[in-house]
Amino acid sequence: MSMTDLRARPTDPAAVAIRSLSPALGVEVLEVDVARPVADRVVATLRAALDDNGILLFRRQRLDPESHIAFSRRFGTLQEVAQKQYQLGGQPLIYVIGNVAENGRAIGDPSVGRLWHSDQSFLPYPAIGSLLYGVQCPPEGAATLFANMYKAWEALPAEMQKRIASLHAVHSFSEYYEGLRDRDATQPPLTDARRALYPDVVHPLVRRNPRTGRKALYINPGYATGIQELPGADGASLLTELCQHATRDEFVYAHAWRDGDLLFWDNLAVNHKGTPFDTDRFVRRMHRTTVAGNPEVYAASLIA
Ligand code: OGA
Ligand code: MN
Repeated sequence: MSMTDLRARPTDPAAVAIRSLSPALGVEVLEVDVARPVADRVVATLRAALDDNGILLFRRQRLDPESHIAFSRRFGTLQEVAQKQYQLGGQPLIYVIGNVAENGRAIGDPSVGRLWHSDQSFLPYPAIGSLLYGVQCPPEGAATLFANMYKAWEALPAEMQKRIASLHAVHSFSEYYEGLRDRDATQPPLTDARRALYPDVVHPLVRRNPRTGRKALYINPGYATGIQELPGADGASLLTELCQHATRDEFVYAHAWRDGDLLFWDNLAVNHKGTPFDTDRFVRRMHRTTVAGNPEVYAASLIA
């Protein structure tokens, strides 16, 4: 593993030590106690490290909901969890994920993220970042996979880059939800109210980091259903080809969770996906905060 000391970077005076998680992407941040107040210069350094590496991992943290929220807020406005049944009791900013029950009631979302996706790409202004904290992690299974979408873009042949630079993908919550119901019969039908809340949206196939300008491929098989400019089979096969390309081994890091891990990812820089575990033997409990998207950041991610 290569050690990187951010002291070397002129924009990073805070000197937070990081080390690489994998050749594909990601860094572990060493010696930052997220539960304590974090200095502005440390936040700026973490922001830069996230911009460069797509995900930040903080191990051995002890976060209660308040400290999880306080740290997350340093990176933007947090979003309330849309599905009230998965809000942590009394705390609408914390999304409970996993097969976890309290007083006989399932309080965690059991079905999150089983296809490659970028959080909320079905919204006009998708979530900027997600901070997922492992409260209770199964000893086997339940890894989360992350794919580097900068590298996916950079590895495309110039011809393909040119072909797709002006194209847009259609992202659809309702189609995603129908697929989820096909896989999990316990999911209730989509209500008209919820369908109306999430009309289909389009996003460019290429976006850029608003601060560094680095381009990323922005497409995912979880929510994208087609290419706006190429209806029909041509669009469908392009979508499949790009999604397969983006998950080549060399772009992917698999995170094996330990209790106390906090993982912060940039939804523009990476796609991610959950993997199964033995739900009869193990309990998994994760808490997530979500940094909301907004028109300004979104506009800054568009390529002129
Ligand atoms: C998420 C997600 C996958 C997992 O929290 O957004 O997709 O492995 N999680 O928990
Ligand atoms: Mn997700």
